[in-house]
Amino acid sequence: MTALVADFRSDTVTKPTEAMLQAMASADVGDDVLGDDPTVRRLEERAAKLLGKEAGLFVPSGTMGNQCSIAAQTQPGDEIIIERDAHVFLWESGGLARVPGVQPRCLVGRDGALDPAEVEAAIRPANVHVPRTSLICLEQTHLGSGGRVVPLAVFEEIRAVASRRGVRVHCDGARLFNACVASGIAAIEYAKYCDSVTFCLSKGLSCPVGSLIVGERAFIDRCRHVRKWMGGAMRQSGYLAACGLVALDSMIDRLAEDHATARNLAKRLAAIGKLLVDPNGVETNIVFVETRGCSAADLSAALAARGVGALAMGPTTLRFVTHRHVGQTQVELAVSAAASILSA
Ligand SMILES: Cc1ncc(COP(=O)(O)O)c(C=O)c1O
Repeated sequence: MTALVADFRSDTVTKPTEAMLQAMASADVGDDVLGDDPTVRRLEERAAKLLGKEAGLFVPSGTMGNQCSIAAQTQPGDEIIIERDAHVFLWESGGLARVPGVQPRCLVGRDGALDPAEVEAAIRPANVHVPRTSLICLEQTHLGSGGRVVPLAVFEEIRAVASRRGVRVHCDGARLFNACVASGIAAIEYAKYCDSVTFCLSKGLSCPVGSLIVGERAFIDRCRHVRKWMGGAMRQSGYLAACGLVALDSMIDRLAEDHATARNLAKRLAAIGKLLVDPNGVETNIVFVETRGCSAADLSAALAARGVGALAMGPTTLRFVTHRHVGQTQVELAVSAAASILSA
């Protein structure tokens, strides 16, 4: 296999920075399952404060963060309302059925945003024949729509529906900080409309491992229990949490560079004239490309043979994700490789 010299498959390919490696080397650690790791505690407190919540929990992955959060706020057999392209529904290996044991009620969003009126209509009435609706699940940014930012007003309206109907709200904020940088709206503003929020350190923020869950203390205590039975309780995880603290200090603002790279890539790919790309739809670090006549898997394989990584997300949909290891040079490589493949 040709080595990928321009890897646009995902922002999860990012490696820790020099500052993270130094922070790991000097981290003060202990057994976190016994409550002894001061660095993990600092990261959890920092995350909770940043999002205006009582408490936080460090978990190994975004998937575990979402599944713990849902399990801690639902009962098996409940129904949750979720956008049909949401990561939690599509890409977590059937986790909803395995971990919380809930059934999804999928609604079609607009650029990833659920319609609050449709959400309200989908909440089940109290009736012995139907499941209980216990949670509404949002995603910020919304991966399936190409990293769109769900507007704050949608969060606010969905919160109002949820409060009126006694339903809780979870946000899969794997790329919440991309949304903050793109919209200029602080994370705490989105979080205030949610009961629970997860965010990932190991995507554009460049950490090797880790995500956080934030919410009320009693909820976080329940998540801690779920994390333990899922096998996600870690021991000297302060080495990883140390990277998270560096990320929150120094890696958020630079996401703007990834967004600029993504917009530039979209414009350049559109200019080839053989792919369907909407540069105006690129709000953050994700570019979805429609390959028209040719198969996305074939184009992905041909790009990989030229050292360019891009993932086929459907029969004719190709995804490019920008991050700190791809800039102008890698954009040039990707565009010239795509142009030469498509003109052959
Ligand atoms: C929107 C979204 N949510 C959740 C996750 C899950 O994160 P992880 O891969 O750390 O389990 C991802 C991963 O790409 C994601 O894109």
